Amino acid sequence: MEYKIAVIPGDGIGPEVIDETIKVLNLIGEKYSHEFNYKYVLAGGIAIDEKGTPLPGETLEICRNSDSVLLGAVGGPKWDDPTAKIRPEQALLGLRSGLGLYCNLRPAVLHSALRDASPLKDSIIGDGIDICVVRELTGGIYFGERSLVKNGDEETASDTEKYSTSEIKRIAKIAFETAMKRKKKVTLVDKANILESSRLWRRVVDEVHKDYPEVELDRQYVDNAAMQLVKNPRQFDVIVTSNIFGDILSDEASMITGSIGMLPSASLGEGTNGMYEPIHGSAPDIAGKGIANPLATILSAAMMLKYSFGLAEEAAVIEKAVEKVLEEGYRTGDIMSEGNKLVGTKEMGELVVKYIKEGK
Ligand code: IPM
Ligand code: MG
Repeated sequence: MEYKIAVIPGDGIGPEVIDETIKVLNLIGEKYSHEFNYKYVLAGGIAIDEKGTPLPGETLEICRNSDSVLLGAVGGPKWDDPTAKIRPEQALLGLRSGLGLYCNLRPAVLHSALRDASPLKDSIIGDGIDICVVRELTGGIYFGERSLVKNGDEETASDTEKYSTSEIKRIAKIAFETAMKRKKKVTLVDKANILESSRLWRRVVDEVHKDYPEVELDRQYVDNAAMQLVKNPRQFDVIVTSNIFGDILSDEASMITGSIGMLPSASLGEGTNGMYEPIHGSAPDIAGKGIANPLATILSAAMMLKYSFGLAEEAAVIEKAVEKVLEEGYRTGDIMSEGNKLVGTKEMGELVVKYIKEGK
């Protein structure tokens, strides 16, 4: 079977981690007789430099016509002027809305070999952390109306948090479906004591919950949820929340699992086309040094195989190889601890390839 994959290496460490991931995909293709056809396209800072826009029309078109999109990272200090009208991050928002990817799955799993990397105490980690953040991705304050009004020296700016029933319903369904395959618990995170939009979330999520009586539904205000994530992360299974709260809480959830360099993500819509990317950013401080951790991108490719191509077995093979690499004590700098073996980006990619070949 042939699969068309649009590849966006992007900025900073993006190209380096993508290189290793492509090696892994090629091996899977060989091993299982799948043909992965890659089209490399520009987005982010590099697209601003080369095409004058963070998301060239051609890029979006190729992504639309692909079976999935694999993205490294976008952004960097070079394009970071907050007053700039054109910014690399606009590429991400344009891809999300342009491809209709309203659902962002961000699993935060503490790999048992990486317990030491978590900043939390052993007694809090207990038998492990396994949370899936389901973040709404094409609505809310990210896409609501904005304004900047000047009145002499005084400026007034506003951004709008806006949600409709249908937007909440479709993401709530995915959260409950996800929970059904896991520990059957959903925590809705909102600010319903203040925000009207959050009160709508509560009503709609309650309504959708009726179709999933087996799933336990908890509701938490976002400030409390931020605290609970470090106090007792094991209470969470699936967290469903708005675009902005999901942005913030998924960084927190990733941190408690030890390394943001380990965590993949999937952005999905109605069809099977999805966008897969590591949660970490472009890490400009370590770009080009060959020391970035490619595992989050490699695990994102595994999510792609599972969610967009229905290749669950192949995905599991990649995940198992990553586990093996960690169990054998290989670590990039971000997850390094005493007694382990420090490796660079390329070595890490090669180790995953090696363990897939050995089929262990
Ligand atoms: C993320 C990032 C993006 C977001 C930025 C880079 C636009 O933080 O994917 O979480 O805020 O959604
Ligand atoms: Mg973020």
